[in-house]
Amino acid sequence: MNPRHLLAIESSCDETSAAVVRDDRGTDYRECAGSQRVVRDDLSILSNIVLSQDEIHAPYGGVVPELASRQHLKAVTPVVRESLATAGLPLAAMDFFAVTQGPGLIGSLLVGLSFAKGLAYYYRKPVLGIDHVQAHIESAFIDRPDLVFPALALVVSGGHTSLFLMKKKLRYQVIGRTRDDAAGEALDKIAKFLELGYPGGPIIQKLAENGDPGRFPFGLPRMSDRSLDFSFSGLKTAAIRIVRENGIGKDSASLPDFLASFESAVVRALLGNIIRATEIHSPKSLVLGGGVARNKRLRAAFEKAAAERGLPFALPTPKLCTDNAAMIGALAWAKIKAAKKKIPLSQDLDAYPRSPR
Ligand code: KG4
Ligand code: ZN
Repeated sequence: MNPRHLLAIESSCDETSAAVVRDDRGTDYRECAGSQRVVRDDLSILSNIVLSQDEIHAPYGGVVPELASRQHLKAVTPVVRESLATAGLPLAAMDFFAVTQGPGLIGSLLVGLSFAKGLAYYYRKPVLGIDHVQAHIESAFIDRPDLVFPALALVVSGGHTSLFLMKKKLRYQVIGRTRDDAAGEALDKIAKFLELGYPGGPIIQKLAENGDPGRFPFGLPRMSDRSLDFSFSGLKTAAIRIVRENGIGKDSASLPDFLASFESAVVRALLGNIIRATEIHSPKSLVLGGGVARNKRLRAAFEKAAAERGLPFALPTPKLCTDNAAMIGALAWAKIKAAKKKIPLSQDLDAYPRSPR
């Protein structure tokens, strides 16, 4: 079978991204010694262009939806062009189009969705609507297609903090979600409060590098109903109280210790739920995805928790953690391959701002 290509577009928040992803199934198998097929190389990311809007939103300390959608409108054509040029392929060579359908900012989603629908209509190729949160999980499978199920997957980003039980590939059961802020949102808000810049997660990571995480103790939130939900608003309030009581500012000597303590509290809150969910659901593997999964402290704690329990795990390379179109393309291929029927040429795709319940 000839390799097939798809163009994926992501515009759910403040990154405009386009990727060309090739399905190599049946064309490219790496063989191991003894000609035993152990590595299945069935997906190639030929390009993954990400144009961030960080500079546009930085003065406001968070994403301004109206500015985001206007910027997507300006960026989508050049980003798609660059992604095709990098892949060395014309639009006419695409067999499918894939696009983020939701959740996200409605105005931003509509830019990518309308663009992809237009291309699909013109080239008479099917377009697949892809769920952004599920795509964050899929990004972890890109390097670990062999991961065993049931898997426990945590998506932790600026807009989402959700725990999924995946009994098998492409089956997502939500078993916990945040009741208030997402973890990345809490990091971004504390960075904003201290006037450190946007996005807060990577800035906090850098400033906290040499800090003492034990200097400022944080109590962790406990759900009274023993659910696997998360809550970060209490940690945020505690952080603001500590800042005020200790007169911590962006130039204080105690800032690295404070940020290390806060970052470590967020990591402990996330890990605590992963560990509890592991005890309840006995998964065979662990998965982590989303922008906050770039965080070094979280990655180290996650790997340690998996190793201590003897569980295999999947963790995307840092570039594939934050929003990007390659993860949309990867999930689209997984769905196309699993589809029992031919994907129809025309589908009614509407953008959705929130995850379906
Ligand atoms: O997945 P993503 O790009 O967008 C959403 O779907 O929300 O995640 C963005 C979030 C932001 O909150 C940002 O502060 C956080 O990911 N983030 C990090 C790091 N890099 C990005 N948080 C902690 N440490 C990092 N290194
Ligand atoms: Zn995301």
